Amino acid sequence: MGKANLTEYSQFTLSPLENVGVEVLDFDINAPFTDVLQQELKAAWYEHAILVFRGQDITPERQIEFSRLFGPLEMHPLKVKTSAEFPELFELVNGGDQDQHQTAFWHGEEVVGRLDWHMDLHYTGKPNHGAVLRAVTVASEDGQTGFGDLAKAYDALSQDVRTRLENIEVVYKFEMQRVKWRFIDLEGYEPGPNLAKKPADIGFPDFDDSVYPAVVTHPISGRKVLEVVEQFLDRVLEPQCAGLSPAEADDLLRELVAHTRKPEFHYWHQWQEGDMVLWDNWRAMHCARGTPPGVQRRINRTTIEGDVQLGRQIAA
Ligand SMILES: [Fe+2]
Repeated sequence: MGKANLTEYSQFTLSPLENVGVEVLDFDINAPFTDVLQQELKAAWYEHAILVFRGQDITPERQIEFSRLFGPLEMHPLKVKTSAEFPELFELVNGGDQDQHQTAFWHGEEVVGRLDWHMDLHYTGKPNHGAVLRAVTVASEDGQTGFGDLAKAYDALSQDVRTRLENIEVVYKFEMQRVKWRFIDLEGYEPGPNLAKKPADIGFPDFDDSVYPAVVTHPISGRKVLEVVEQFLDRVLEPQCAGLSPAEADDLLRELVAHTRKPEFHYWHQWQEGDMVLWDNWRAMHCARGTPPGVQRRINRTTIEGDVQLGRQIAA
């Protein structure tokens, strides 16, 4: 890549990733977090939404300190998944006896931990602000994480579609069983026998439906974000108010989901030891490709609390 593509900040250099997001070069997580470094990191985060750091020597303490630069941290609702020593740390582990609860089949192949495009806590109306993932043990096979920039997806919409979206609100229905999600790709999919069937199976309450404007303005950057993600997507709220029949409203959502699936809005992270990824969950969706059964993988995650109500809840 030519030097022309690099953006120099005073504390680090940014290099564009494939399609969306940037890699942060000349950065050491163990160097002091000075005021100017913090300001520049935040500016880069709001500008690009997806930041990749490589070759970092990271301890759990330092990951937590780094994540706190972007806002207060959230504890994960599932206590069993947090580290006993560091409650801010959420451990994503594959290759052990928990695999059976996240195994499904695609075209007859068993896959552990594959996740559709989603935004974290989107179903509550108050998504997390962001998160940091750090590879502790890299999967020997697969295990990529996908990130999709929904501000760039919005920017690429035609003026006609943007105008149509002005009066549209979109409803998300929290539902454990993937076969009941209306706008995901179900071809060749079979749920595994030990997947959760209802929220109580993983200690979750039932959630009301959440509703978002089809286009949300980012609370900090002011960028417009196409608030359409395939996971839990259910329907347009009162489509007749926008002059649409329910069938036309479904067609519109299908068209928008197809738009968000275009590779030009995606970055796929192939994990290596020492990698860390920070993303803005108010702007970027993410997904996981999963791993074959038995493949060892460990990711440490910290989560930046969302303090803005971007959507609202309505009775399911
Ligand atoms: Fe997630």
